Amino acid sequence: MIQTPYYLIDKAGLLRNLEKIAYVRERSGAKALLALKCFATWCVFDFMRDYMDGTTSSSLNEVRLGHERFGKETHAYSVAYADYEIDEVISHADKIIFNSISQLERFAEKSAGIVRGLRLNPQVSSSSFDLADPARPFSRLGEWDPAKVARVMDRISGFMIHNNCENADFSLFDRMLGDIEQKFGELLKRAEWVSLGGGIHFTGGTYPLDLFADRLKAFSQTYGVQVYLEPGEASITNSTTLETTVLDTLFNGKNLAIVDASIEAHMLDLLIYRESAKVKPNDGPHRYMVCGKSCLAGDIFGEFDFPNALKTGDRVSIQDAAGYTMVKKNWFNGVKMPAIAVKELDGTITPIREFTYLDYEQSLS
Ligand SMILES: Cc1ncc(COP(=O)(O)O)c(C=O)c1O
Repeated sequence: MIQTPYYLIDKAGLLRNLEKIAYVRERSGAKALLALKCFATWCVFDFMRDYMDGTTSSSLNEVRLGHERFGKETHAYSVAYADYEIDEVISHADKIIFNSISQLERFAEKSAGIVRGLRLNPQVSSSSFDLADPARPFSRLGEWDPAKVARVMDRISGFMIHNNCENADFSLFDRMLGDIEQKFGELLKRAEWVSLGGGIHFTGGTYPLDLFADRLKAFSQTYGVQVYLEPGEASITNSTTLETTVLDTLFNGKNLAIVDASIEAHMLDLLIYRESAKVKPNDGPHRYMVCGKSCLAGDIFGEFDFPNALKTGDRVSIQDAAGYTMVKKNWFNGVKMPAIAVKELDGTITPIREFTYLDYEQSLS
């Protein structure tokens, strides 16, 4: 038995997503790169590698991890590179995508030996959160003026465009790709490859995979480009739980259950976007507010319905705990860091990593 708290990655859940990714690659000719910003738990990279073409990154650390732990194609992107890191970034990458023309020009000489691209910003997106909207007013994410980009076409061979955010609506994806074609069509014709970024929920239950793959293929044929996708969330959605144990119960007008984990430390993204965690089946006559054990008053996973009254020692499994979660875990309050375990395809559970006091101590000096 592994001591809670721990993240449990279920390979069967991962496989459901990976098989859909492989199907889209096959039918459309697009390549799929895992977005490490979303999920970088490398113990399952051996398992994921056969279904994907490589990784994409947002920093020197990520590009190095992608190169060393995943292999295959390694795209480097960052909002801005520093002079002291550019050589090492290039040593790990087979493509580098600059966020701005000024970064492209600054590192033109150093990057002359590898494939280069530029991020474009079509100024429309599917985001419903200002915080995560790449097309928000005054956005720094990518170049938007086709005339300015046309002047540096001799230095680049492709583009990255990321403007889908948690988009489960194929017709919206289709319309936004149409906007991109309208706006940047002339540039796309001169490119050899185009990455359409992440944020497309195509591994979700009802997503029309064939329409999606055919749209990608048509786009690729119209412009004569190799299409890339950068699925983060879509690669790992519904694959992982955060396993916790109830430490205490209270009644303060509502039934409260305190578990041995923390939303602030272990599922921070939910707190940032003010979203509730998920517990399954969330059905039964006993409603509890499930709370974290940090000192933050609002360290609350959410309110859920349970079949039985909760008591100290009961297990609560928080669903969908892989994306933008394990990459953001932190040592707030010194709360015990969840271990990492993998559920193999035959159901056995392999403990992968435990974190100790030393990890906590070493995270600061
Ligand atoms: C450039 C880029 N690519 C890929 C992704 C992955 O997005 P998602 O995890 O929503 O698929 C992101 C997310 O912010 C991104 O900014």
